[in-house]
Amino acid sequence: MTSKDIRKSFLEFFKSKDHSIVESSSLMPDAPNLLFTNAGMNQFVPYFLGEQKCPYNPPRAADTQKCIRAGGKHNDLEDVGMDTYHHTFFEMLGNWSFGNYFKKQAIDWAWELLVDVWKFPVNRLYATVYSPDKNLGDPSEFDQEAYDLWADKFRSIGLDPSIHIVNGNKKDNFWMMGETGPCGPCSEVHVDLTEKGDSQGKLVNMDSPLCIEIWNLVFIQYNANPDGSFSDLPAKHVDTGMGFERVASLIQNTNHFTKFDGLISNYETDVFRPIFESLEKLSGKKYTSTLPELGQTEFSDQEKIDIAFRVIADHIRTLSFSIADGILPGNTDRNYVLRRILRRAVRYGRTLGFTEPFFYKLVPVLVEHMGEFFPELVQRQSAIAESLLEEEQSFNKTLDRGIQLFQDNTKDLLSGDRLSGDIAFKLYDTYGFPLDLTELMCRENGFGLELDRFDALMEEQKERARGSRSNKVISVTDVDTSIQTEFVGFDSLECVSTVKDVVDINGKKAVVFEKSPFYAEMGGQLGDTGQLAVGDNRYKISNTTKVENTFFHFLEDDKVPSEGETATLSVDRERRRSLERHHTVTHLMHWALHQVVSKDAVQKGSYVGPEKLTFDFNSKPLTPQQVADVEKLVNQRIMENSRVSWFEMPYSEIKDNPEIMQAFGEKYGDTVRVVQIGGRPNELNGYSIELCGGTHTSSTGELGFFNILSEGASSAGIRRIEAISGWPAFENVLETESKYHHLATVLGCPIAEITRKVEALVDSKKQLEKQLKSMRQSQAADRAKNLIDNIEQINGLPTISAVVDGDGDIGQAMTDAIKSHFKGVILLLASDAGKLSLHAAVDKEFTKKIKAGDIIKTIAPVVGGKGGGRPDNARGAGSQPENAQQAILKFKEFVQNL
Ligand code: SER
Repeated sequence: MTSKDIRKSFLEFFKSKDHSIVESSSLMPDAPNLLFTNAGMNQFVPYFLGEQKCPYNPPRAADTQKCIRAGGKHNDLEDVGMDTYHHTFFEMLGNWSFGNYFKKQAIDWAWELLVDVWKFPVNRLYATVYSPDKNLGDPSEFDQEAYDLWADKFRSIGLDPSIHIVNGNKKDNFWMMGETGPCGPCSEVHVDLTEKGDSQGKLVNMDSPLCIEIWNLVFIQYNANPDGSFSDLPAKHVDTGMGFERVASLIQNTNHFTKFDGLISNYETDVFRPIFESLEKLSGKKYTSTLPELGQTEFSDQEKIDIAFRVIADHIRTLSFSIADGILPGNTDRNYVLRRILRRAVRYGRTLGFTEPFFYKLVPVLVEHMGEFFPELVQRQSAIAESLLEEEQSFNKTLDRGIQLFQDNTKDLLSGDRLSGDIAFKLYDTYGFPLDLTELMCRENGFGLELDRFDALMEEQKERARGSRSNKVISVTDVDTSIQTEFVGFDSLECVSTVKDVVDINGKKAVVFEKSPFYAEMGGQLGDTGQLAVGDNRYKISNTTKVENTFFHFLEDDKVPSEGETATLSVDRERRRSLERHHTVTHLMHWALHQVVSKDAVQKGSYVGPEKLTFDFNSKPLTPQQVADVEKLVNQRIMENSRVSWFEMPYSEIKDNPEIMQAFGEKYGDTVRVVQIGGRPNELNGYSIELCGGTHTSSTGELGFFNILSEGASSAGIRRIEAISGWPAFENVLETESKYHHLATVLGCPIAEITRKVEALVDSKKQLEKQLKSMRQSQAADRAKNLIDNIEQINGLPTISAVVDGDGDIGQAMTDAIKSHFKGVILLLASDAGKLSLHAAVDKEFTKKIKAGDIIKTIAPVVGGKGGGRPDNARGAGSQPENAQQAILKFKEFVQNL
């Protein structure tokens, strides 16, 4: 069976058992406490918790889920490459019951698929069941029901349940997604891969490649609470997960269970083979399947190559699938996990002899083999390759120097010694080495690492960063968020409300109301400013922010209203209108970028202020034509005066609609606000539709005019456009116009003539410069004549040396002029505006004896400079003209002592 057949067979089997076949969810998890989607059940958590009704009838589902286990509770990163079956990215085949069937069917069907359909040899199968270790405080009871069900199965074919069922405590047989969430006892199926299949269950859960787990059946019945307790869920569920690559390995490497004497490895399957073949072609190295022993620390060259193959093949899958799901390598959180994994791959690339970017070249083979089932890979192929290339290029710049630093600082270490924390920090801070990469390099060489020192340096750095940050960041850890502020500012800019609270945030006073028209900073749009009126008192509001649903209105000075007073809140209208224009035009521009550049120009961040907007997005640099096209398209839509409307909808209705722009990774509530440009309100038929909580103009005509000020790099793979609309755009035009008027006056010509006039001026300037240069040269020739009278014989060599006035051009012109009349050794020091230029020339006849380059090297330090060159001609520069005569003496001494 090919791996594609296995995937298909699994899904068809459960389809025949009335399961709905669903798509893999994104690698970007829904749960806030997860770095990546790490199990098939993640997308179904709301059904398990009873928060949402499962939409399948009957309530059963099956799928293959993309998973990453490279951080958090489930982390396999360190094992990757060292064995045959751990991966950071893998597919998990699974079947689910949502309050429907439970242990009996789950075990029946697992047995049926493995034994009857796929023909696994039963004597090699082992089941584990949950047996809590009460000494360790494990929850719940021994899973007698699962035990009995498995015992029946084994007995039915004459096998002894006491051998084929193995007990496990919470560590192995109680499944939790993270520290919190739905969980329960589980029962795993393990397969004995020893040659004879006679391990008698002794290798189960012993980390042996000769007995591996292939399927985990979880019986979900509890919710793990943040305080460590477990509560019963409203219903009982089944969550199973089967290692797709592991099953492919077992079936393909044993010739469908007929021979167990060869290597059984996930990497020897049609899942990884194509990647290896591509890597072999690119590197010229061969993968030979050697494997280190458990705990081995010294490796042969071929072992190192084989480890590198496995790591790189694993990591390209992790990176490509993540980027396809919108998670890019970056500096924080899950994005940094990806950057770490990528940098590891690049470092392992050195083992295969790659010094130039290579990783991105593996994208096509992956897309070719996986793209059919995961079309997102095909759709985003170029974006994946581009971000990988850019990441590789940037790390390549420092990798070799970092490796050198590591080697220099470990050459005197003995096995067991620790690498200094200062060096690990320098590798991290200056050379971009993630800590785990440095740890890996230490492990490979048998060294430890001074982690305490590294941590202390990291902490110091964070402190410094905190200290230097502007007061824009508001510390919100301790604010009271019990008062819910109702936002009324979509429809009005003024309202009356009662002062509920006055708080102190970072030394500034802020007022909390029950109701407010002030927009609180969010999603790039700045908070509103304005004023409060309480009786005759006026208070200026300098900013508005929010924490959860509590709005903080910051007062400009220390005078504060009192709790309970009634205030009229008025937003600064002009400013708000400018903000709205910039926000609406951001949506228009986002839409236009998709038209002109690519649908992959995904928004990465934005700033919406009254004076301008900036918009960050994924892309290569735009061409000037693309910038002009975006500008034109946006202005066309402004002139069309399209309607802008906003309305609320259940998120479930639009969740999977690809026409609606939503931020990757953004977690939306049940009801979302949709902002649409064009089309009719509520009908979702506009040309731009985005989920957005900001405020907007009601038509595009209000924007007036749109102008892109700049397009440039923001960070690796991310571009930033800075643009203006409305009054700032108008003022920008006026300002430019007035500059032209001024220029026309200065040039004494009409505006229409400016270009021609300036071009003519530039031309004549060039002519003048040319003339000046030739005049200087003829002057230099005259001055050189005087010097020729001062030939000095030193050590048998005719020499001319002098300090002259003039810049580098004059110095060189004089040297050249002397050369044409004199055969010997020349040194001129030209002095101009506190700088010296050094010129040496030696006739070919004498270059065996003395070289111009050496003259400059000898005298340059005397004048605080440097330089060098060829034996017959050399130049340099110095910064201490006061030492020029001394340099001449040094020259003479040098010639004398040849
Ligand atoms: N959630 C379980 C696991 O990931 C079974 O799907 O192992």
